[in-house]
Amino acid sequence: MPHDLLQRRLVVVTGKGGVGKSTVAAALGVLAARAGRRAVLAEVGRRGDVLDTLVPPVAPVGDAEGPGDPDGFVETAVPVPGGAPGALFHVSVSPEAALREYLRDQLPIAGIADLLGSGKLFTGLTAATPGLRELLAMGKVWELAQPDRRTPGATPYDLCVMDAPASGHAVTVLGAPAQFARTARVGPIARQGTIISGTLEDPAQTGVVVVTTAEELPVTEALELQDALAERAGVRVVLGVVNGVLPDRFSAAERDALGAGAPHDPAIAVADAHARRAHGQALQLARLRRGFRAPVITLPAAPGRRLGPDDVALLADRLEQGLRRVAAAPSSPTTPEAS
Ligand SMILES: Nc1ncnc2c1ncn2[C@@H]1O[C@H](COP(=O)(O)OP(=O)(O)OP(=O)(O)O)[C@@H](O)[C@H]1O
Ligand SMILES: [Mg+2]
Repeated sequence: MPHDLLQRRLVVVTGKGGVGKSTVAAALGVLAARAGRRAVLAEVGRRGDVLDTLVPPVAPVGDAEGPGDPDGFVETAVPVPGGAPGALFHVSVSPEAALREYLRDQLPIAGIADLLGSGKLFTGLTAATPGLRELLAMGKVWELAQPDRRTPGATPYDLCVMDAPASGHAVTVLGAPAQFARTARVGPIARQGTIISGTLEDPAQTGVVVVTTAEELPVTEALELQDALAERAGVRVVLGVVNGVLPDRFSAAERDALGAGAPHDPAIAVADAHARRAHGQALQLARLRRGFRAPVITLPAAPGRRLGPDDVALLADRLEQGLRRVAAAPSSPTTPEAS
């Protein structure tokens, strides 16, 4: 397998809103399945149905009492475009279902657990306890990444790819277990918070990937995010992915010539606009590489408005190439690879 990213049990994908986190998470899941692994994409803070488009569901896993419990988490098998020796699954992680599952696990009488985890009580409990929603979501993702899962009857995964919320919220989610461990100090919450934060802070088990586009604000946010994740959540970013990169085809002289011709010719105006955007992206990519401590790889902008499984397969190819280059580069983690 190229690069050791997917050898970990948990890969967390975050970055600014809308930069392609879900797309990159799906492509990483495809790569893992191609490498023969049983992988699950865990979508947290679901926003829209983008993953349903990228990895259309096939069938829920397990029976009504097991991981396929309609009241709990539905782990769905998804097809890997082009086929794969491994397997890919998808699960949407809501704090509500995480609380119900947690209480059922902790309390001897299922009825009481369901009552405590139901609508009004859940809302009251989470409103009164800042960070609880995040802790519950993170706890479930951690469970999905364990070789011995707590969920009765559940088959373990080799890898969990977490499609995490955007930057600031991701810092809160990833930092929640350590925060609860600190504030609770003793008891089951402190114990479990310590175990989960131990997994997140161990670079051999967890890798955080920051996705950005090659534009000024997303790059600034990516640079700030690597520090915030380290300082406030104790986790290390292992890879930067710059998504939607246009080919930078023109030299400075050619750009000048295009600019001079643009007002007179619509075709040249289109080429001029493309050249300017691509050049702007190249500058932002260079800026990211200067400030980012992890290796950075790029993914092309796919043609068309709405991505589908074939586009994800193509992006997975490009990710694989990028990861191979990172693996082959001299060992310094800051060494930029040639893209
Ligand atoms: N490389 C790409 N080329 C073209 N379009 C892309 C590419 N990557 C993502 N997109 C498109 O950009 C949009 C945003 O992507 P995506 O949903 O993966 O971003 P996100 O960071 O998960 O967003 P959110 O913050 O809302 O969860 C989607 O419509 C997706 O199809
Ligand atoms: Mg998303």
